[in-house]
Amino acid sequence: MSGTSVDGIDVALVEIRGEGLKLKVQSRAFHSIPYAPDVRDAIFSVTNTETHTSRLSQVHFLLGRLFGEAVREACERAGIPLGKLDLIGSHGQTVYHQPSESEIGGVLVKSTLQLGESALIADLTGAPVVADFRPADMAAGGEGAPLVPYVDYLLFRSRAEGRVVLNIGGIANMTAIPSASEPHQVIAFDTGPGNMVMDALAEHFSGGQARFDRDGHLASEGQIDSDLLERLRNDEYFKRPPPKSTGREKFGERHYLEPFFDPALTPADAMATANALTATTIAQSVQQFVAPKMGVDEVIASGGGTRNPELMGRLRELLSPALLRTSGDYGIDSDAKEAIAFAVLAYESFHRRPANLPAATGARRPCVLGKICHPPPR
Ligand SMILES: Nc1ncnc2c1ncn2[C@@H]1O[C@H](COP(=O)(O)OP(=O)(O)O)[C@@H](O)[C@H]1O
Ligand SMILES: [Mg+2]
Repeated sequence: MSGTSVDGIDVALVEIRGEGLKLKVQSRAFHSIPYAPDVRDAIFSVTNTETHTSRLSQVHFLLGRLFGEAVREACERAGIPLGKLDLIGSHGQTVYHQPSESEIGGVLVKSTLQLGESALIADLTGAPVVADFRPADMAAGGEGAPLVPYVDYLLFRSRAEGRVVLNIGGIANMTAIPSASEPHQVIAFDTGPGNMVMDALAEHFSGGQARFDRDGHLASEGQIDSDLLERLRNDEYFKRPPPKSTGREKFGERHYLEPFFDPALTPADAMATANALTATTIAQSVQQFVAPKMGVDEVIASGGGTRNPELMGRLRELLSPALLRTSGDYGIDSDAKEAIAFAVLAYESFHRRPANLPAATGARRPCVLGKICHPPPR
C-alpha cells in the first residue's frame, strides 16, 4: 500500500482465514519503506499533471519493482519464507482519480489510475497478485472509493457501540458503523484533507527539508487564523453529503495552499490553521453526516495523522463525548491498517467475493474487485 502522502511503501504480512462475517485476520508483521527522494519526485512528475506517456509507463514499472522488493524485504525481516505467501494485494500508487464525469467526444468518462505493475511483483515474489481494485466499482457507477469500509465493517463492527473508523492519511476518510448494523447501513466517505495540507506547508516552510510537521511541533507554536479557517471550511466539498471522495487534485494543488502563504501569517500560524482544518472538518463530518443517523460512541483512528499529538488533542476535544481511540487499541497497528485492509480485499477478490460497499462508493451493485496476475510456475 502506498497512500496519497507518497511517503513510502507499507507492507503488512497477515494471516487470513474464513469468509464473510467469520473472516479472521491476524497481523504477523509490518514493514514500511520510505520512498527515495528521486522516486518520490518521479511519482509527483506523473501525478495530476500533463506528462509524457514514457514517464508514466516507466514509473508504473519502477513501482512494480519497488513493491515486489518491499514484499521480499518485509518477509526477510519477519523470517517468513517467500514460499509461504499465498497472495499479495497491491493497491498501487494513485496518480489520478476522477470520480466525476467529463465529456470526451460525446462520451461521459470517469477514471482512476493506480501505478505499480503487478507482473513485476508476481515475478519477484512468486505469489499471485491482486491489483487495480477500484475500476470494477467505477464501471458499476461508483466512485471507486472508499474501498476500506468493507474491511472496517468486518474488523470493527460492534453489537453494542456505534463506531466511526477514521483513517488520517494524506486524505482523511471515515467509515461510520451503527451498532448491530448491516453492511448497507454503513456510511463512508473522505472527509477532506488529512495530513496533505500540513505536509505541503511543512515542505514549503522548511525549503524541502521536512516532509511533515513532526509531532505537530510547528502547529503547537502557532495561533489559528479563525477567519481563514472559516473561509476554508466553507468549501463546497465539506458541505456535500456522502458518498464522496477526494484526493491530491483538490487539496494538494498550489492554488488551494495559496491562502496559507499570506505574509500576515507566520509559518506556525499557517500550520496551526491547517492542523485545525483537518480536525474541524473531521469533527464536522461526524456531526453533519453521521450523528443525525446513529449514535457515535467512539472514533477509532489510524494512519500517520495519529502520530500528531496536536491533531489528536484537538480531535479528542471536538469529538467529545465520543471517545477517540486508535486501531492499535483493537489489535490492528494503526500504521499497518490500510495495508492490512488491502490484504483482506485481495483475499476476497481472489475468492470471487464482492468487496465494495455500494453504500460507500455509490456503485449500482456489489462487485468483485481487482485483477489477478499469476506468478511464473514455482
Ligand atoms: N511523527 C509524526 N508527526 C506528525 N505527523 C506524522 C508523523 N509521522 C507520520 N506523520 C504523518 O503521516 C503521514 C503518512 O501517513 P500515512 O498513513 O502513511 O498516509 P498515506 O496513507 O496517505 O500514505 C505523513 O505524511 C505525515 O504527515
Ligand atoms: Mg503512507
